[in-house]
Amino acid sequence: MRSDILNKIREKTDIVELVRKYVPSLRKAGRNYKALCPFHNEKTPSFTVNPEKQIFHCFGCQEGGDIFSFIMKIENLTFMESVKKLAKEAQIKIDFSSYNSSEMEKTFSEIKKATCFAAEFYSRFLTSSNAAEARDYLKKRGISEKILKFFNIGYSPPYSDFLVNEASKKGFSKEILLKAGLVQMRETGHLYDYFRNRIMFPIKGIAGDVIAFGGRILSTGEPKYLNSPETPLFSKRKNFYGLYESLPQIRKIRKIIIMEGYIDIIIAHQNNLNFAVAPLGTALTYEQANIVKRYAEEVILMFDGDTAGRKASIKNGNLLVEAGIYPKVALLPSGEDPDDYLRKRGVRAAIEIIKNAPDLMSFMLDLCAEKGVARAPLFEKSKIISSLLETVARQENEIIKSEWLKLISEKISVSHRALTVELAKIKLHTTSPENNKEKTPEEKIPPIEKGLVQLLLKNPRHINLADKIEESMLESDFAKKIISFMRNLKKSALNGVIAELSLKYPEFSPEIIKISVEELGGDSARDESAIKKTVDMVIKTAKEKKWRTMKNNLDSLSPQQLSEFKKLTKELKT
Ligand code: UTP
Ligand code: MN
Repeated sequence: MRSDILNKIREKTDIVELVRKYVPSLRKAGRNYKALCPFHNEKTPSFTVNPEKQIFHCFGCQEGGDIFSFIMKIENLTFMESVKKLAKEAQIKIDFSSYNSSEMEKTFSEIKKATCFAAEFYSRFLTSSNAAEARDYLKKRGISEKILKFFNIGYSPPYSDFLVNEASKKGFSKEILLKAGLVQMRETGHLYDYFRNRIMFPIKGIAGDVIAFGGRILSTGEPKYLNSPETPLFSKRKNFYGLYESLPQIRKIRKIIIMEGYIDIIIAHQNNLNFAVAPLGTALTYEQANIVKRYAEEVILMFDGDTAGRKASIKNGNLLVEAGIYPKVALLPSGEDPDDYLRKRGVRAAIEIIKNAPDLMSFMLDLCAEKGVARAPLFEKSKIISSLLETVARQENEIIKSEWLKLISEKISVSHRALTVELAKIKLHTTSPENNKEKTPEEKIPPIEKGLVQLLLKNPRHINLADKIEESMLESDFAKKIISFMRNLKKSALNGVIAELSLKYPEFSPEIIKISVEELGGDSARDESAIKKTVDMVIKTAKEKKWRTMKNNLDSLSPQQLSEFKKLTKELKT
């Protein structure tokens, strides 16, 4: 991609405005803007946007970059797709035909093409004469034509190689079909379709492309639902069914209902409950809780009222509380999932349940009342209270925390003091990956070199002040590469140097972004003298090092080296 085009898009895009579309809580703080990070779970804002340099960085999870990397990350797009999207928004016309994308990007976009092709193929197959049984099934379940189209629902043929053949004809390679999770390989090397004889529910990414599928068996059989395997595009921990379809409404009302299954979401939409999403066959994950938090202030869990559904409500509710969300529980009668409930009792009744949904703590206390916990044997009672306190401990908001304690004390008749004492004993083993993330070993960059690079990135025009530094004087690859890159850049391109560097050296990008966002203070004149001083220091350090090595090897120095050593000795003395 030509950098002048990228710069044009950068000029026309305000990173603060762009980020705010996804992170509405972005607030000004000094020269930067700050908010809770959309990429990891945190309690105090360390996500920082710098409008002058048009970059962002999170000091908590080290995620960072420019407008393009932000869009790539938050919408799960390739670099090229992010350029296209931002170009369109900035109303800049670009001819993409000449662009050479990287191998990885090509694979990504090929996989996406394959899953999108498969979605079209399955939905076309649903209208074919071979799909009468599938159409009957969907009709029997009361799914309207309009909703079928809206969710791009399809049907996978009952034969073993229908999709493989069609996709191959269209030019998709074996490798891509395998990577997309659309086919499997026998030991003979022969490919066969992953989904057969199933109603197909395409799972879409935030940008609306199909990235995976869920497939329901038509009659009976195992498994009832089959999900796409994990692929480079798709992780079931990080996606929801129905999120793309629900986003317009979710953005509007900042509420989300979480249900359990594919059909629940579809029937909810058919009843205009169009802010419902479902995790993909697993309990809610930490990553999903973070996505929820990005878009909604209120989250309602709506599950079957049976034992499993109650347990799921509490488990998922706890995870949401820990992510800083205030969950409510809209429990349905036992044995009914949202689909059953809506069909039997209609949407008005469902809306009533949602409106009256208690928060997680009240919900748990209602269950306790049902079981008569207040008068249960002491040991049992204390165990139940401990589990309630586990939820309280996850609550960061002190006001809610104290109200919850008051509620527990009243409803189960236990002293407030005892509750506070027990609460203090609880140490949670939290689910956040932050706590057990392994740090990748990084090159050790000498602080002085890091400082020099930081000053130069802040004042790219002063790069000539570092002319005296030879590459051999620098220790880190980081400083060597960046300084050499800046020297070779045209004067006019120096403004976009951070973005250029991030593209050229993605491995350095996090560090580059981080040191560029850190507030340095100081004006340009002060920086100039700071750069000069740092340059001198780097040179002196290098010379001292050289001198020391020579001194340790005095015996083996050539006459020429010896005279250099003498010169160095003199120089360092002054
Ligand atoms: P359920 O078994 O409750 O099915 O699974 P359902 O949603 O009510 O489906 P219908 O009404 O029988 O068609 C709930 C959800 O759990 C996941 C799916 O996401 C499903 O929608 N699941 C279930 C699987 O991933 N695999 C399975 O084998 C079963
Ligand atoms: Mn069901």
